Amino acid sequence: MTDYSDVLQRRGKFPCLLACCPVTRAGENCEKTSVDKPEPNLYFKLMAFCYKFRDLFLPRMKILDEVGIEPGFHVLDYGCGPGSYIVPLAELVGKSGKIYALDIHPLAIQMVQGIASTKQLTNVETICSDCETKLANESLDVVLLYDTFHDLGDPDSVIEELHRVLKPSGILSFTDHHMTENQIVDRLTNRGLFSLLRKGTRTYTFCRE
Ligand SMILES: C[S@@+](CC[C@H](N)C(=O)[O-])C[C@H]1O[C@@H](n2cnc3c(N)ncnc32)[C@H](O)[C@@H]1O
Repeated sequence: MTDYSDVLQRRGKFPCLLACCPVTRAGENCEKTSVDKPEPNLYFKLMAFCYKFRDLFLPRMKILDEVGIEPGFHVLDYGCGPGSYIVPLAELVGKSGKIYALDIHPLAIQMVQGIASTKQLTNVETICSDCETKLANESLDVVLLYDTFHDLGDPDSVIEELHRVLKPSGILSFTDHHMTENQIVDRLTNRGLFSLLRKGTRTYTFCRE
């Protein structure tokens, strides 16, 4: 089994507190109280800038095409970052669907709220948290966990939380270019909460056990 403790120590991460930060809706403030730390603002802004080019060269819809998101779906984008997936997600789920965008970083929450307001997306809800979603049990069709897993201070708690909020038929769509395929499959399946359903060109799809 892969040992991530060195990575976590380097990043200065702490175990996730399960009551760290309230759910926020567009326009509300994110009052973070957790000991888990967001990246410095400059680092986050640089990432957001680079992602604009990434998204130009590889539109996020191409990634989402692998997931099978349908109109009316309720989707959580865990570790949403600057919100690259929000507009394509909104196109896929339509007005009857719902998008939850969660991130530990207040700037991510602000950026997603900005996108939702500019594009007049009324079905986007932001959640500022390092783990707990405060969503109902078995309420989601899809969770996206893209390029975030390697960043998590307490990945097992996040996996448990995502398992809790997914419907029994729900799926977890995963990518993380910091991890090998073996690491991804091992870390997502080793506790029996998820199993690998299929491997796409750019994503891994896990179903909830
Ligand atoms: C590399 S970015 C990926 C953003 C987005 N998923 C994408 O692929 O465009 C990782 C994001 O995870 C967030 N993050 C890191 N630790 C987190 C945690 N414990 N809970 C929620 N989000 C976290 C960071 O703030 C950052 O926005």
